[in-house]
Amino acid sequence: MNCKVEKEIEILLPDDFHHHFRDNKYLDTTVFYAMQRFGRCIAMPNTVPPIRNKNDAENYLSRIRESIKRFIKKENKFEPLMTLYLTDVTTEEEILEAKNYGILACKLYPAGATTNSNFGVTDIKNIDLVLKTMERIGMILLVHCEVTDSKYDIFDREKYGIEIMLKPIINKYPNLKIVMEHITTKEGVEFVKNCNDKVAATITAHHLLYNRNDLLVGGIKPHMYCLPILKSEIDRKSLLDAATSGNKKFFLGTDSAPHSIENKECACGCAGIFTGHIAIELYAEAFDNVGKIDMLENFSSRFGANFYGLPLNKKKIKLKKLVTGYKVEEKIKFGESFLKPLRGGEIIKWFIE
Ligand code: DOR
Ligand code: ZN
Repeated sequence: MNCKVEKEIEILLPDDFHHHFRDNKYLDTTVFYAMQRFGRCIAMPNTVPPIRNKNDAENYLSRIRESIKRFIKKENKFEPLMTLYLTDVTTEEEILEAKNYGILACKLYPAGATTNSNFGVTDIKNIDLVLKTMERIGMILLVHCEVTDSKYDIFDREKYGIEIMLKPIINKYPNLKIVMEHITTKEGVEFVKNCNDKVAATITAHHLLYNRNDLLVGGIKPHMYCLPILKSEIDRKSLLDAATSGNKKFFLGTDSAPHSIENKECACGCAGIFTGHIAIELYAEAFDNVGKIDMLENFSSRFGANFYGLPLNKKKIKLKKLVTGYKVEEKIKFGESFLKPLRGGEIIKWFIE
């Protein structure tokens, strides 16, 4: 390998505000990569079964911590942050108990919107009291903002999600802090920009780097299938503008979502792209592509922590860009199977020192 470095930057250790660790036998894969790149990760609760109350979260956290310990013996600073999965029957008591335990946020999955969302909310009226309580006690609502009714085109699900789900929630609970997760459209960017400071958004690396042509042109690429689905080049550019603009409402959330190769390469493949193995490297590439690498640190290491009310990480990391690059691992062990990571077998240039 030619190790000549073209450029380098030092940034505060990033946080990932949207990460799918999965559970049990899968944890060693996800934890291994996440803890090399992030100080903290918001752990998505759509495990099987989902994390629906404080007890679930407590047990899940200890399983993740066991995995962390397998990689580092001494006290490790890597901190997984738990979330709750809202259902039609989540109670006010469960929210209060979760808040007391230190859970910062709850995730709203519309039922049927994505992977493991069958226990999700069927009508936002069913979580009226829950949202009111969250607003009162200062818990953050994380929204998978897509409508599920089959009358909507899959490429418009986010746009209508804003109209049908998000706007009514914001109007009814103006003091509720909300993160519109993994935004994918120009409409999403404009909407979040025009909301007050209670509303922010995460952006994935894959939505910054790819558009729907990468999924569909020249044959269907199941490993590029995620939800919300990749959108147009106009949308991608709008996300990149937002992420690199220095607007504190937009911050890092990878949505790194592993599935085994068999579950991706089949007649009805799962939604999700695994980026955990090169997560911050991909963001560096996206920012660098538009000459905005100096804007990365705010996006990756400050704005999210500030929105969540967390202290900034103290540690720093160095990111370097090689002149020629290096090859990404083709496949990664995932439980008894393997997954195909984004860019598997391809060359990338950015790496963490
Ligand atoms: O692509 C996705 N995969 N989107 C989601 O919302 C869920 C995730 C998963 O859990 O696999
Ligand atoms: Zn997700």
